Amino acid sequence: MSLLEIAGLTVTAGGRRVVDDVSFTVAAGERVGIIGESGSGKSVTSLAATGLLGAGLSASGSVRLDGTEVIGAADRALRPLRGPVAALLFQEPLTALDPLMRVGRQIAEPMRRHLGLRGQELQDAVHTALADVSLPDERIARAYPHELSGGQRQRVATAIALAGHPKLLIADEPTTALDVTVQDEILTLLDRLVAERDMALLFISHDLAVVARMTDRVVVMQRGRAVEQGEISQIISAPQGPYTTALVASARALDAALDDPAASGGSEGSGR
Ligand SMILES: Nc1ncnc2c1ncn2[C@@H]1O[C@H](COP(=O)(O)OP(=O)(O)O)[C@@H](O)[C@H]1O
Ligand SMILES: [Mg+2]
Repeated sequence: MSLLEIAGLTVTAGGRRVVDDVSFTVAAGERVGIIGESGSGKSVTSLAATGLLGAGLSASGSVRLDGTEVIGAADRALRPLRGPVAALLFQEPLTALDPLMRVGRQIAEPMRRHLGLRGQELQDAVHTALADVSLPDERIARAYPHELSGGQRQRVATAIALAGHPKLLIADEPTTALDVTVQDEILTLLDRLVAERDMALLFISHDLAVVARMTDRVVVMQRGRAVEQGEISQIISAPQGPYTTALVASARALDAALDDPAASGGSEGSGR
């Protein structure tokens, strides 16, 4: 049994299929990517995986998270899974953080809830959690989210996501909103944490280079469908469908332009 088993997942919004018959699995300790253009259904798939679909979206098919069927389950039944089984990291960390609560407390809360820590033990755990995401400064624990930089906020969101010791980290474009150097630091951090903690990773991005760096296997989504999936190396060397072929070709063209900026008339920066 895989940690996450998605079979025939379909999500409709007002009669429109925004996710259409998608199936894939993530085994314990495995790193899987979802790549696709904006609006292809990546975020809706990741939300459906944890039973967090908003009002107006309805899901059918099957999503099994560590053996528990998520589709149709009551929120009360899923809450214990969020944190210890699967945790989500979003593109814009501000949406995940409480603007009115100091970040130390926001990291402490899931540790109290899921690990039962109290008092000095809890304080020490918060300190360690900040150090783990390379935010060793005590000042950070007392800060409010708006007092931090985008990169620091994503580190805090990472500390919160990891507080319940999840078996699976779902990261939905976690670096897309950050500038390139900070993006690289956060990817390095996530790479290290996933390896150290032997977590499974479901990593979502529109950027093939980033997905290739972070994962071993990839699901390619287009207009709600999983049009292709396989090992990253195989997808890059022998893409099957026209969309995946175009995706690989454009990543190659960008790569070539970066190697020789003069040839492309000095292009803009890349995703890396
Ligand atoms: N809560 C919602 N209500 C209605 N439509 C939605 C909702 N969330 C997403 N959608 C639609 O579903 C499609 C897929 O969205 P999404 O999964 O966010 O794409 P992306 O691949 O960019 O993450 C889009 O067309 C989007 O407009
Ligand atoms: Mg998205």
